[in-house]
Amino acid sequence: MPLLPPNHHPPFSIVRIAYVDCHATDLAVSRAFWVDTLGFVASEETPDALYLRGLEERSHHSVVLRKSPQVDVTAVGFKVYSEEDLDRAATFCASRRLAHEFVDRPFQGRTLRLSDPLGTPIELFFSMDAVPSKLRQYGEYRGARIQRIDHVNCFSPDVQASYEFFTDLGFRVSEYAAADRDDRIWSIWLHRKGNVHDIAFTNGRGPRFHHVGMWVNSVTDIIHACDVLATTGWIASMERGPGRHGLSNAFFLYLRDPDGHRVELFTSDYMTIDPDFEPTRWDLRDPQRQTLWGMPAPRSWFEEGSLFAGQPVHEAALEAQPIVAPW
Ligand SMILES: [Fe+2]
Repeated sequence: MPLLPPNHHPPFSIVRIAYVDCHATDLAVSRAFWVDTLGFVASEETPDALYLRGLEERSHHSVVLRKSPQVDVTAVGFKVYSEEDLDRAATFCASRRLAHEFVDRPFQGRTLRLSDPLGTPIELFFSMDAVPSKLRQYGEYRGARIQRIDHVNCFSPDVQASYEFFTDLGFRVSEYAAADRDDRIWSIWLHRKGNVHDIAFTNGRGPRFHHVGMWVNSVTDIIHACDVLATTGWIASMERGPGRHGLSNAFFLYLRDPDGHRVELFTSDYMTIDPDFEPTRWDLRDPQRQTLWGMPAPRSWFEEGSLFAGQPVHEAALEAQPIVAPW
């Protein structure tokens, strides 16, 4: 399938990925993992919710964990350019007959909740409570020294359809993987903010949530996080890596939180902001796409993900399978 031309004049303007909102079963255990071990900053803690952010961030939260007996993800949130963009987004949703409503979310202004055509729950907002950046508060750096949210990655049962919808919203392609026989897109990395991605979609049963990627400053921060996790009782949380992706060139470590939500520590991708940026194509069977050093990812990484709350899951459109490790 040929790539689409980029849409430089979308109906409303999204700035960047901003948060993921999850359910968690035991917030004390979640706090031990996300705050005490990984080094997230707790902006707000209540008996029912944990609002977390990275050290660099000036907005109140980039990960929200709400107490619930069921484990799922309730929304991925994007910041828009202005309040008026929220109204333009509502008009756009109405024109596409997409379910949408304005909802109340603590610590943020007007928030428009919608489902994309595949059922991915999305929230759009412009204003969020400001908090002090801890960028230069080095005495508070712990664990992986988490800096900021970078992206989310979701399973889509129809990556082509997800790609077409997000292109309509002004997202542009940085890299993608296609099956060798027919060129159908198996996974795609899409951005608004000018690095490799704000959101990526991978072929699979879905819609489901695959992971949230958190930016860290250096490879050394990820190696240090491995040492911390391995010696504080969290060794089983390390699912894949550390390693370097071919696609995106990022250095990575994938973790599973106490409820199974996947978080990636991520650094070392690159700039994509030029309007005539040419996307990079990878063959689905190229082992260096997954890991530049050649090691395949475990089966769990390809097959497991968090459900979106209340959202039915559909079988994937493509049957093509990437290379999977024998464990
Ligand atoms: Fe990622």
